[in-house]
Amino acid sequence: MGSGAGKSGWAERRPVLFPFLLSLFCLALSEQIHYRIPEEMPEGSVVGNLAKDLRLSVHELPTRKLRVSSEKPYFTVSAESGELLVSSRLDREQICGKKSACALEFEVVAENPLNFYHVNVEIEDVNDHTPKFSQNSFELQISESTPPGTRFILEVAEDADIGLNSLQTYKLSLSPSFSLINKEKQDGSKFPELVLEKPLDREQQSYHRLVLTASDGGDPPLSGTIELQIQVTDANDNPPVFTQDVYRVNLGENVPPGTTVLQVSATDQDEGVNSEIAYSFYRSGQVFGLNSKSGEITTLKTLDFEEIKEYSIVVEGRDGGGLVAQCTVEISIQDENDNRPDITFHSLVEMILENAVPGTLIALIKIHDRDSGENGEVNCRLEGEVPFQIISSSKNSYKLVTAGTLDREQIPEYNVTIVATDKGKPPLCTHTSVTLHITDVNDNAPVFHQASYVVHVAENNPPGASIEQVRASDPDLGPNGHVSYSIVASDLEPRALSSYVSVNPQSGVVFAQRAFDHEQLRAFELTLQARDHGSPALSSNVSLRVLVGDRNDNAPRVLYPALGHDGSALFDTVPRAAQPGYLVTKVVAVDADSGHNAWLSYHVLQASEPGLFSFYLVVALALISVLFLLAVILAVALHLRRSSSPAAWGCFKPGLCVKSGPVVPPNYMSRLPIPKL
Ligand SMILES: *[C@@H]1O[C@H](CO)[C@@H](O)[C@H](O)[C@H]1NC(C)=O
Ligand SMILES: *[C@@H]1O[C@H](CO)[C@@H](O)[C@H](O)[C@H]1NC(C)=O
Repeated sequence: MGSGAGKSGWAERRPVLFPFLLSLFCLALSEQIHYRIPEEMPEGSVVGNLAKDLRLSVHELPTRKLRVSSEKPYFTVSAESGELLVSSRLDREQICGKKSACALEFEVVAENPLNFYHVNVEIEDVNDHTPKFSQNSFELQISESTPPGTRFILEVAEDADIGLNSLQTYKLSLSPSFSLINKEKQDGSKFPELVLEKPLDREQQSYHRLVLTASDGGDPPLSGTIELQIQVTDANDNPPVFTQDVYRVNLGENVPPGTTVLQVSATDQDEGVNSEIAYSFYRSGQVFGLNSKSGEITTLKTLDFEEIKEYSIVVEGRDGGGLVAQCTVEISIQDENDNRPDITFHSLVEMILENAVPGTLIALIKIHDRDSGENGEVNCRLEGEVPFQIISSSKNSYKLVTAGTLDREQIPEYNVTIVATDKGKPPLCTHTSVTLHITDVNDNAPVFHQASYVVHVAENNPPGASIEQVRASDPDLGPNGHVSYSIVASDLEPRALSSYVSVNPQSGVVFAQRAFDHEQLRAFELTLQARDHGSPALSSNVSLRVLVGDRNDNAPRVLYPALGHDGSALFDTVPRAAQPGYLVTKVVAVDADSGHNAWLSYHVLQASEPGLFSFYLVVALALISVLFLLAVILAVALHLRRSSSPAAWGCFKPGLCVKSGPVVPPNYMSRLPIPKL
């Protein structure tokens, strides 16, 4: 329903901005923005220019993402203009009932950076309810003997509005016999009492018909009516009289159904049936029951202070003769601590960086306890030792902030338990847990598993052979912990480096790119780097020393004596009379290898004497010559014997020796000067 005064003309905007001063003193207090609007404004109506009141310019709106954080979203923030708009029906009576002040409090959250502002929208009452009686007519029996001045409580009307808009007066249609008094209950609500002005004469008029009008004080006023039907009874007895006009009682909520609330009692001075009093409710409620004989009022169901705090009941006592008296029973329900605090999280941030500074806002927590007084006052704390802290913000709001250093590599997530305890006796508490995940930051450089590496490689290795694997670990997550390897420095010629060694960036395996030759390169040093993929990346270096080992890959080379084409050496002759032990020559050889591979030992493999064949040939020829000579001599001798010349025989007699010299084989050994070594 429109207020009839335009869309926003009614809305009074009173931004109460005192953060500027306050924030200097109290960081926990947020900005408070205050608006006042009438109830029942149509959806889309502007409550106020929130962005302007928060001093945000329109072009900031897309990044700051202003939004309302509330359990029941009565309002939204326009993304384009930053205005606070009505988004659902605002019925003051539904929201606040009979409360005289009605305000909706909620937080407006802004992002980048996360901040929130406390907004209070006061809802003003509009006279949108007519005073209403529960029925159209009301019957009353009055004895004709009733003295003038007697009063009768009449049915009350209800008006849901408050203040001036609520029920203000009752009026009675003109009557010579009756008048009306407006009376007030303890809580300020009005009720009508009918007063008999002059004696009734049943014979003259047995039936009176009056109209009771209830009006509120709105502008214009609204009113409702009920017809009073008054029957004048023909008896001269006494009406019942209650012991009290008003009975007041306090009753704890949650008493079991059937609990006695109190007992009303009326007496009647008549006798017989005229003194028998039957009690009844004016308005039958489903909450309380009344024993019509005893006047005992009991509860029919469990009462909830949070729903209704006070009941006012009119009890009627009627005697057998039809005379009636009334009393009012006012029952105040007493609050008990029967509601646990309610914890809700608002604006929980998704990423908590491990390097977040202490005091970083993580969530807004709202605590609500439906109980009243101390039963509804709540303390909030965190359970256990966690690097977080709860700071009281505005009323019932708390901030969850970081309160220490975080290290994802040590603790990647926290289960934070918030305990809200009220001050009731006994207190009630609520535990709520939330898991906070810590987001990785590249705060660890890769670390090599060894402080330095030394590797021995035998020379003549196959090119492409892996000679070592270096490894580094990085405890960070994802790319921040993904390590690549490279060679960043070496003592080799920079341009030649890649032709000697390489490293696999992923595995850290170091490869020889060529066969190493110990005779040229015995050792070299590389600086390897492990680098993660964070932004910015972190790295560390390690040294790798490669020692090239020797293999026996060089044959000894004879330096002396000089060798001929056929590999043989020529020596000088050795004197014929050389004694054993005569130094013939000294052979000198060298080996390019090192260590054992270069230790030489010398052996004679073969000794031979050239010319031995010709020696045997000469001996054989000599033997043949001698035999031939002997044969010739024998033939001559035989011839001479036949001619009997004994002198000629003398030569052949035994004991005669043939003179012959020893045969010495030729000797070809030569001798050379001994080289000086
Ligand atoms: C947090 O709570 C969840 C569920 O109760 C559990 O699985 C997890 O292990 C807890 N984490 C820590 C760090 O205690
Ligand atoms: C690693 O070595 C390179 C080349 O010598 C050098 O530029 C770099 O600063 C070193 N990094 C570290 C972490 O020592």
